[in-house]
Amino acid sequence: VTGDPSALDVTGDFGGFDGRAWLNCAHQGPLPLVAVAAAERALADKAGPHRIGDQAFTEVPRRLKAALGRLVGVPADQVILGNSTTYGLHLLVQGIDWRRGDEVLLVAGDFPATIVPWLPLAERGVRVRLLEPDGGALDAGRLAAELTPATRLLCTSWVFSFTGQAVDLAALGRECRRAGVIFVVNGSQGVGAAPLDLSALPVDALVGCGFKWLCGPYGTGFCPWTAAVEYLLGIGVDRVAARDQALVERFLQGLDPDRYRLASPRRGPGRSTLVVLGHRQPGRTERLHEELAAAGVDVALRRGRLRVSPHLYNTGADVDRALEVLDRRTAPVDSR
Ligand SMILES: Cc1ncc(COP(=O)(O)O)c(C=O)c1O
Repeated sequence: VTGDPSALDVTGDFGGFDGRAWLNCAHQGPLPLVAVAAAERALADKAGPHRIGDQAFTEVPRRLKAALGRLVGVPADQVILGNSTTYGLHLLVQGIDWRRGDEVLLVAGDFPATIVPWLPLAERGVRVRLLEPDGGALDAGRLAAELTPATRLLCTSWVFSFTGQAVDLAALGRECRRAGVIFVVNGSQGVGAAPLDLSALPVDALVGCGFKWLCGPYGTGFCPWTAAVEYLLGIGVDRVAARDQALVERFLQGLDPDRYRLASPRRGPGRSTLVVLGHRQPGRTERLHEELAAAGVDVALRRGRLRVSPHLYNTGADVDRALEVLDRRTAPVDSR
């Protein structure tokens, strides 16, 4: 495995994005062409259901569970298929034998899907407490200081959608195990972009969506997603992660620190595949988002910052296209 982004050339495996640079996987991952073909077959089968054999009812979910299990290091029978992150968290909220006085810890600023499902527990006498860690992401020291005898469960995202920070799952999980606290992780912004082995981590439950870094469709849990997950497994998540990090590195190297302030970590274990940045000049960030779009570069604008999130199908040239716009001293003259 090499960190050279050119080492993994998979651009022919994806649809081409009409010539645009899709640097927005943290919003939507594209279906690989093998999954598009699987979706077309599934549509044809549903239009003529006489083609669907009875064995599909068991075979389709079995194959997907096996692929997801391989991806995160658990046996297939420990995988539950749902249609969203929110659904997975609702299952946990409903499935735990809560006692009045229990406490659930969450992190302020986390993505709403990680927070909202727990809030109705207040009606059952369970206290839901939002931690506000310095710098936004929770570390083990702060968690240890916040745990009380009433703490029953901690839920946090692995990678934070709005800051791009990755938390240390091993350290947080160890703290939870020590205190007998259930540790729930939302892996939506990390699984598929970085390796995760639950057989070696003190995590009790992992939830996530399939439509970002796992390159699946919305409402996942049917056959085109199996094709996408099997496609990623075929390449190997280690290689995907190396390529993604090389693209992130290329972007960060090209970014002018005098003009841009990073909200995501520049280096170290907290760095993910989400680079979050703002122009130091007020109002400029929003305009840059439009200028990037006009130049054929798709990134997200989230909470007043740009979020750049490259994945395996991107090239160094995509990153350079973004940098070219971010490097301009002045906005282009409006030709209208
Ligand atoms: C951290 C995180 N979790 C979950 C989701 C999506 O939630 P759901 O699968 O419930 O639609 C997103 C989407 O942006 C996200 O960033």
